[in-house]
Amino acid sequence: MGTLQVVRWPLKKVLVGGGIVIVALGVGLGVGLGVGLKSRGGSGKENATESSNVSNVSNITTAKWQPGVETTWQIELLYALNDTSVDVEVYDIDLFDNAATTISALHDAGRKVICYFSAGTYENWRPDKGSFEASDLGKTVSGWPEERWVNISSTNVRKIMARRLDLAVGKACDGVDPDNVDGYDNDNGLGLTEEDSIQYVNWLADEAHARNMSVGLKNAGEIIPAVLANMQWSVNEQCVQYDECDMFAVFAQTGKPVFHIEYPKGDSTDNELNVTAAQRDKFCTFSGSGNFSTLLKNMDLDNWMERC
Ligand SMILES: *[C@@H]1O[C@H](CO)[C@@H](O)[C@H](O)[C@H]1NC(C)=O
Ligand SMILES: *[C@@H]1O[C@H](CO)[C@@H](O)[C@H](O)[C@H]1NC(C)=O
Ligand SMILES: *[C@@H]1O[C@H](CO)[C@@H](O)[C@H](O)[C@H]1NC(C)=O
Ligand SMILES: *[C@@H]1O[C@H](CO)[C@@H](O)[C@H](O)[C@H]1NC(C)=O
Ligand SMILES: *[C@@H]1O[C@H](CO)[C@@H](O)[C@H](O)[C@H]1NC(C)=O
Ligand SMILES: *[C@@H]1O[C@H](CO)[C@@H](O)[C@H](O)[C@H]1NC(C)=O
Ligand SMILES: *[C@@H]1O[C@H](CO)[C@@H](O)[C@H](O)[C@H]1NC(C)=O
Ligand SMILES: *[C@@H]1O[C@H](CO)[C@@H](O)[C@H](O)[C@H]1NC(C)=O
Ligand SMILES: *[C@@H]1O[C@H](CO)[C@@H](O)[C@H](O)[C@H]1NC(C)=O
Repeated sequence: MGTLQVVRWPLKKVLVGGGIVIVALGVGLGVGLGVGLKSRGGSGKENATESSNVSNVSNITTAKWQPGVETTWQIELLYALNDTSVDVEVYDIDLFDNAATTISALHDAGRKVICYFSAGTYENWRPDKGSFEASDLGKTVSGWPEERWVNISSTNVRKIMARRLDLAVGKACDGVDPDNVDGYDNDNGLGLTEEDSIQYVNWLADEAHARNMSVGLKNAGEIIPAVLANMQWSVNEQCVQYDECDMFAVFAQTGKPVFHIEYPKGDSTDNELNVTAAQRDKFCTFSGSGNFSTLLKNMDLDNWMERC
């Protein structure tokens, strides 16, 4: 495939006004549909006590692999992994770009592997791009001309994502990192809501767990309480930059790692550019930082990394 991959700019806070409420799917998705999720929309009014219940997931499915708080990691998404020398417990790498042999080599070295894919956008270079229907696609992702938001409630989109999970389990990924589940927080053109994301993320969890894989929540801090119980970790970009690390600390408080990335060099991806002591201090030391698994990365998520 033509795999010209654009720089992975973070998607932030381009909020669209109130959209259409999308009716959740009920049927036809085969194993793993989160049947229980429908009950949340039911009759009862919720009081303050319920609102502080962080296990607020109707269908909690279990994962066999639960990494601990402060698990060390590396993330590299720009090309097929070609540097396995970084001594960390977990590698987060692209699902499509990496062969099963890469993953088994990491396993042989005692590492766990999380496989990344975009669950909430269409990427025009992926081998299964032809499976999306025109009606599944929303607006172009701001800053990412080769990606469009997708209707995460669409049966067809979910079939595509279920096949990606099949690919992941076929390559023996230990877990998956489904990105772009925060369409509600962006100008998506599909009226996506937080409730849509809650349904979708819990569905992804059911599907991953049914395949014996773990799963984490990518960004999407607003929906943490409604999905946390089904998540094995958080992958967060730039909570220091956006002053929202407190929102993600609940993962550490429930024994789950926050795989946390900051981009101290800003837009620059120059590997020769060194992070200054002041930058390290800013991005590595914050309230609760002792429980975060923080990496300093280039924005294109190439091999370069520094640990805090
Ligand atoms: C939860 O989801 C799993 C996997 O999809 C399904 O097998 C199970 O029946 C569901 N449980 C409930 C209580 O809905
Ligand atoms: C509110 O919380 C209390 C205390 O946990 C609980 O007993 C009660 O059922 C809740 N009320 C509603 C309407 O859910
Ligand atoms: C629990 O889930 C419901 C339905 O998704 C949501 O409206 C509510 O805000 C959640 N409660 C918390 C504490 O997140
Ligand atoms: C939290 O919610 C879960 C799932 O709805 C429920 O089983 C549990 O009893 C609740 N815990 C508290 C303290 O309300
Ligand atoms: C399921 O995952 C666990 C934890 O990664 C692993 O130990 C176990 O062998 C897996 N089971 C199967 C049937 O693959
Ligand atoms: C890994 O691949 C990239 C892209 O082809 C290349 O720029 C880089 O030099 C390679 N790094 C190593 C360690 O082989
Ligand atoms: C998204 O898909 C759902 C389920 O098929 C459908 O009800 C809804 O209308 C779709 N949304 C848009 C904006 O097309
Ligand atoms: C970056 O740091 C390395 C190692 O300390 C040093 O050799 C190099 O000159 C520095 N680069 C710049 C541009 O300052
Ligand atoms: C890490 O989390 C534990 C458990 O919640 C807490 O007791 C501890 O204070 C936290 N450490 C930091 C540095 O926040």
